[in-house]
Amino acid sequence: MRIDIITGFPGILEAPLNESIIKIGRKKKIVEINLYDLRDYTDDRHRTIDDYPYGGGPGMVLKVEPIVRALRDIFNEMPREEARILLPSPRGRTFNHKAAVSLSLDNHLIFLCGHYKGIDQRIHEFFEVNEISIGDYVLSSGEIAALAIVDSVVRLLPGVIKDIESAWSDSFSEDLLDAPYYTRPEDYEGKSVPKILLSGNHADISKWRQEMREKDTRERRPDLYENYQKSIK
Ligand code: ADE
Repeated sequence: MRIDIITGFPGILEAPLNESIIKIGRKKKIVEINLYDLRDYTDDRHRTIDDYPYGGGPGMVLKVEPIVRALRDIFNEMPREEARILLPSPRGRTFNHKAAVSLSLDNHLIFLCGHYKGIDQRIHEFFEVNEISIGDYVLSSGEIAALAIVDSVVRLLPGVIKDIESAWSDSFSEDLLDAPYYTRPEDYEGKSVPKILLSGNHADISKWRQEMREKDTRERRPDLYENYQKSIK
């Protein structure tokens, strides 16, 4: 998979894209991630990437020209038909695990990171752009939302996580939350690990984990639990 991120603030992305699971995916060449600094696509002395909104009001809007230039640069190298362009925005459709699975099957994702008031709407007249929200709250930076989406997609790519079963039992697969986990020590200040996890009986442990998944989902996320019940009927 190739992921291109067009950003006015590459510094927000650099460290997280070079740590942990994403770093492993890049090292193993399962995913290639490129950053495109919007300021490299400006043509004025101040390298201006944003401007005041027409009609007034607070905040700044990312200018359309540098973004179009950056996208054209990418499409000089890569076929446009195979790319999915994503614009993190609170106005988008809400992202979830199923959307992550679906994106993980793509070959080429391009993120356009907006700031504060977003991007000049005319971007939609040049390219097919999918707006995508990571929840009903507002971030000051599209980069943070893009990182959340990239992380959730990259960890699903075959070969990135060693134990693929670990990803299958994740929260939200099968519309259930994951079970709780424990590690050593067996007893900490009088609080001990559930005995069943020490039994070595894998069938019993699986059954316990499944029961915990169902119980916690029912209590914490009745909306998910309803979907789960429908799916097993
Ligand atoms: N940019 C600002 N807020 C956002 C959100 N909730 N989701 C995606 N992108 C955003």
